[in-house]
Amino acid sequence: MLYLNDPLLLKQQLFINRKWVDGDSEKSISVQNPATGIEICKVASATKEDVVFSIECAQDALQTWRATTAKQRAELLKNWYHLIIENIDDLTSILTVEQGKPLAEAKAEILYGASYIEWFAEEAKRMYGDIIPSNKSSQRLLTIKQPIGVVAAITPWNFPNAMITRKAAPALAAGCSIIVKPSETTPLSALALAELAQRAGIPKGVFSVVIGVDSKEIGKELTDNPLVKKLSFTGSTKVGKILIKQCADTVKKVSMELGGNAPFIVFEDADIDQAVKGAIASKFRNAGQTCVCANRFLVHSSVYQAFTTKFVEATKKLVMGNGIEAKVSIGPLITAAAVQDVHAKVTYAAENGAKILLGGSPSQLGANFYPPTILSDVTPDMRVFKEEIFGPVAPIIAFDTEQQALELANATEAGLASYLYTQNYSRIWRFSERLENGIVGINEGVISTEVAPFGGIKQSGNGREGSKYGMDDYTEIKYLCMGGLV
Ligand code: SIN
Repeated sequence: MLYLNDPLLLKQQLFINRKWVDGDSEKSISVQNPATGIEICKVASATKEDVVFSIECAQDALQTWRATTAKQRAELLKNWYHLIIENIDDLTSILTVEQGKPLAEAKAEILYGASYIEWFAEEAKRMYGDIIPSNKSSQRLLTIKQPIGVVAAITPWNFPNAMITRKAAPALAAGCSIIVKPSETTPLSALALAELAQRAGIPKGVFSVVIGVDSKEIGKELTDNPLVKKLSFTGSTKVGKILIKQCADTVKKVSMELGGNAPFIVFEDADIDQAVKGAIASKFRNAGQTCVCANRFLVHSSVYQAFTTKFVEATKKLVMGNGIEAKVSIGPLITAAAVQDVHAKVTYAAENGAKILLGGSPSQLGANFYPPTILSDVTPDMRVFKEEIFGPVAPIIAFDTEQQALELANATEAGLASYLYTQNYSRIWRFSERLENGIVGINEGVISTEVAPFGGIKQSGNGREGSKYGMDDYTEIKYLCMGGLV
């Protein structure tokens, strides 16, 4: 059961034009707790007409919203931020029951999500243009930044709150209106955010939420519709590529935060205890279901045994179970299919010579649970090395030289996060500059924060979220050339 201090935060309708609407009378979405398989509630499913209407309302709303002052937009965003903090316990419970992550992690996500709203409320006031020295004395040149227009955001199930605020806050701060399509697996956090946005006074049409059983159909409308000027997507590289193609016909600006395959490199001069702490934080956050989770552990052969032994011991302390129980530190995977996929990758590795040091077989706790698993003697041809695991599995591979570590680290199409542990400052710079990633954690396993740019290179996507760069994706630069001056 889900007990809330404010039961009105559990919404089951779509939020369009500041109204709660029913969607398709023939269809609904069953939202289930991944830890128990029990249905939490049913949620409305949008028709194509609902999606079109939400876009038209966003376009109408844009005209007044973009004309508000940055200070006015900042005030509304701050109201939203404070309401989220006031309701943090309810938002945490909703997140845990629909997504599975333990309460402490869910609460951390709500704070993390809220931090983007607070940050962009502040950044709204700093959407500066430039004065450019002209080559002609009769001219003055300048640039202004303007909102790009109606934005569509397609967000994933692994962070049902923070991936919405990370897109909506900079969009609203810049003066854009936005339609959010959260994952149909975890719509309740998105709808609770919509309820709080309404209470915060965000005007009609500026922030809408549509969800549907046919997410492809909704995605097609959001990408095809010429009124939508920008798509921001967080999810798999496979789906991202489809969405980029769909956006090509209307030449939409896109931001893509796609899959990762993060190397976690432990050099011979690393502080091993610090590396183990970082490994636990990075690998097992959200049961391994983040795109910045360490995916491959590259460990210098001289410290391989020491690191592996300590890593196994520390991992044994994790308590797997239903995230609603206070003692639990690692929850279920999102579906039984995800468990099967993770297990297939582990089995393939074991059949090809990897040693299972911990875990390695599905758990008795239920179809969605997979235990923390550590594999040694991994080789680069194994799926756990080549593919994003998205589960609590840590494959360890040995290296002997810095050059070898670099080649292994970069041997992937993905380029989101990477981690390195060493005490050598020359190596830190040398290696960080040659890593093909958007983010490098140096002696640090927790790299996500609203104040720094989050995003990848290569097939991990484009654009940056958070930080002083985060509003660039939602603005256009207009150049004004003033001539005829005497
Ligand atoms: C993600 O997995 O998509 C986001 C992770 C983060 O923000 O740290």
